[in-house]
Amino acid sequence: MKLLVTGGAGFIGSNFIHYWFKHHPNDEIWNLDKLTYAGNLENLKEFTGRPNYKFILGDIISADVTMPLVRDCDVVVHFAAESHVDRSIMGDIDFIKTNVLGTQVLLNAAKEYDKRFHHISTDEVFGQLPLNTKEKFNESSPYNPRSPYSAAKAGSDHLVRAYIHTHGLAATISNASNNFGPYQFPEKLIPLAITNLLVGKSVPVYGDGLYVRDWVYVEDHCRAIDLILEKGEIGQTYCIGGMTKDISNLEVIRKIIKILGQDESLIEYVKDRPGHDRRYALDWSKAKKELGYQPEHDFEDYLEKTVLWYQQNQSWWQRIKSGEYQQYYQKNYELRSRN
Ligand code: NAD
Ligand code: DAU
Repeated sequence: MKLLVTGGAGFIGSNFIHYWFKHHPNDEIWNLDKLTYAGNLENLKEFTGRPNYKFILGDIISADVTMPLVRDCDVVVHFAAESHVDRSIMGDIDFIKTNVLGTQVLLNAAKEYDKRFHHISTDEVFGQLPLNTKEKFNESSPYNPRSPYSAAKAGSDHLVRAYIHTHGLAATISNASNNFGPYQFPEKLIPLAITNLLVGKSVPVYGDGLYVRDWVYVEDHCRAIDLILEKGEIGQTYCIGGMTKDISNLEVIRKIIKILGQDESLIEYVKDRPGHDRRYALDWSKAKKELGYQPEHDFEDYLEKTVLWYQQNQSWWQRIKSGEYQQYYQKNYELRSRN
């Protein structure tokens, strides 16, 4: 099978490529990525030169780029997005361009060539839940996005649904909760906390720190996508959550501090995020019933393993913080293609 993976140089996309080659070593992957600040080819360096892996530098919004790639692949797995809520609050135009328009361009190509399409989305499209309830989001929850990021993702989900309904596109959607694990850009809570603590810096906690996320280890998410591609019903949406009981940001940070043997004086309360969603929780029973999905990675164990990964891969995140990681592409691809 030939997979066109968009956004494969980002956090989940690169973990997905690692996952896929481990479980389907003979498949072919084309990774189409624009290499925004969030794209990092160092995540995939072991695949450079592998005959069944190809990296294509390009923007999903360009039909000239996407049309021939979609035509020649079997399946599109669409991760590419602007993904950081705080950045969407500072400026949202790129969120609209990539998440909404970019998705439309890909959908149009998939419609043209009648290709299987899987769209990766988020639980944030459903809005927020109150604290201290058992309430969870599921596939029938109404859409109520509250940040420019989640509004743009909601727009993309609606477009996918419209293409399924109107054009009969063979598409599926997954709405996942907060992923954590290796290769996550250190602007997101868990890698930011770990990498700050590793250099003795404080960890910024927004507001009262009593916000709740549903943490899923990235490999569980990748396996869920595999199951959807294998067994998912065309036209369906699947919610993919983790194993955690409600856990606040403050508790997550305290756990990381404890793993690193550091001091809670490094917790720094800062101004809250505007429009901050209080709580997310996902009911993944449909994915369990229809696909056999269930998260296999315990939060506590894999938080510890994730901390260890960042400890053992200091040069990976130090090169991000210094900006050096962006030179990797030039050195390894432009020079090679000129020779
Ligand atoms: P990320 O920001 O780490 O990576 C995004 C990737 O997309 C980068 O490699 C970037 O270069 C690429 N990209 C951005 N704009 C592009 C464009 N116009 N054309 C081609 N490539 C482009 O994101 P992530 O955390 O890996 O998230 C991947 C997907 O999963 C996103 O769609 C996101 O909404 C969704 N998601 C993320 C989480 C999470 O916790 N991180 C949870 C649920 C869903
Ligand atoms: O729920 C899925 C979503 O999870 C994905 O769709 C997004 O792409 C992904 O970025 C993530 O969004 P969040 O906003 O939940 O993730 P973030 O890591 O930015 O923040 C997690 C929580 O921690 C949130 O309540 C805000 C808080 N936070 C975050 C940062 C960066 C802090 O308290 N301090 C921080 O410095």
